[in-house]
Amino acid sequence: MTPLVEFVGVSRVYGQVVAVDDLSLRVSPGEMAFLVGPSGAGKSTLLRLINREVRPSHGEVWVDGLPCHDLPVTRLAELRRRVGVVFQDFKLLPRLTALENVAFALHVTDLRISDDEADERSLDALEAVGLYEKAASYPGELSGGQQQRVAIARAVVSQPPLLIADEPTGNLDQETAWQITGLLEDIAKFGTAVLVATHNMEIVARAQRRVLSLASGRLVDDVPAGRAARMLWATS
Ligand SMILES: Nc1ncnc2c1ncn2[C@@H]1O[C@H](COP(=O)(O)OP(=O)(O)OP(=O)(O)O)[C@@H](O)[C@H]1O
Ligand SMILES: [Mg+2]
Repeated sequence: MTPLVEFVGVSRVYGQVVAVDDLSLRVSPGEMAFLVGPSGAGKSTLLRLINREVRPSHGEVWVDGLPCHDLPVTRLAELRRRVGVVFQDFKLLPRLTALENVAFALHVTDLRISDDEADERSLDALEAVGLYEKAASYPGELSGGQQQRVAIARAVVSQPPLLIADEPTGNLDQETAWQITGLLEDIAKFGTAVLVATHNMEIVARAQRRVLSLASGRLVDDVPAGRAARMLWATS
């Protein structure tokens, strides 16, 4: 199967710091994987290489056939359409309702979409994350878990082949974190590959998905789905 994401000998250097070190990996379409490792291991940098927030110092990063390492600015919109992004702190626009936050993202990725169509698709996305009733609420009126659901709706409303999430449950209690993880699993079930950087090892063990372990910018372990608990048991 053609990989959706492929890193080929990728390094990213900041001055003296090697944030990502000669890393190669492949993620298949529709796959869900966790990215774990100590603080400073390079998890966020790896995700930022995927949406071209940073460029590699060496190597190649391919996303759905696009060469991110070599993508001209004029083609960045093509990449943005292929990669939904979710952050730890949600990053919703506080003066827009839940519906407007999601619709705004659609308008940005598709300049020709009508207001009616954008609203309709945004409502569908909010319904899919269980927040149809909160469409008219502002972020400040929602719980942390609800805000993250809106952010996930915003990330997937244009049905990208890939969703990347950097510590998406970092600001949430354990039960809410588990619910948000379940939502990400549902998204993967419907065909969007999901890559989640996290420190929450309890959730990683419970989810039984593929686990990519980073240390000092290197991929030091790659445990297939279904074997995460054994790995954690072995290392504890
Ligand atoms: N913009 C930057 N400028 C300089 N150094 C950076 C920059 N971004 C990351 N680094 C360095 O690269 C290394 C990897 O950082 P990164 O943020 O990718 O780690 P992380 O695994 O996401 O850590 P955490 O779990 O704390 O979020 C760290 O040593 C960090 O200080
Ligand atoms: Mg990080």
